[in-house]
Amino acid sequence: MIPAVYTITSASVLEDEASALFPGAAYFAGNLLLIALQGAEVIGVVGFRKLGGDEAEVLFIGTKPNHRRRGIATALLRELLRRCPGIVFLEVRESNQGARAMYRSAGFEEIGIRQKYYNDPPENAIVMKFHS
Ligand SMILES: CC(C)(COP(=O)(O)OP(=O)(O)OC[C@H]1O[C@@H](n2cnc3c(N)ncnc32)[C@H](O)[C@@H]1OP(=O)(O)O)[C@@H](O)C(=O)NCCC(=O)NCCS
Repeated sequence: MIPAVYTITSASVLEDEASALFPGAAYFAGNLLLIALQGAEVIGVVGFRKLGGDEAEVLFIGTKPNHRRRGIATALLRELLRRCPGIVFLEVRESNQGARAMYRSAGFEEIGIRQKYYNDPPENAIVMKFHS
């Protein structure tokens, strides 16, 4: 079942739910969140921001563990891409093979690497891009 996807403009509305899915997710006030709902339960979230021009950036994405591999992250990304025509960038930890596979299956290309981009633990980022 693909759940409904909603947009909000104030991350604080869903602070608890978003934090449970992706620690720190709710603290990007002013950015955009799309949420996947099953009934009243938040089962997926993607945070993003528009960069001006025709560019946007995915900040984080998460699906509740017991709802994974059902196309929820893909549905969230599709909705994000529909709302952000042009170029969408993201960074993902090099070791996060599951997320990299999910982004590739949604049409993102791996275009570069940022050395030691992340802390705790330090790790390279893979830069990915979608161009519609
Ligand atoms: C990565 C994540 C968001 C994927 O969410 P999801 O809702 O399970 O993803 P989807 O069901 O849309 O996956 C679509 C496709 O991506 C690929 N994929 C997704 N998760 C995968 C995994 N763990 N391993 C390998 N491929 C994976 C598969 O090709 C999958 O299609 P399939 O299930 O038919 O094989 C989820 O595992 C998650 O919340 N992880 C923790 C947070 C995180 O790492 N976020 C990304 C960095 S911000």
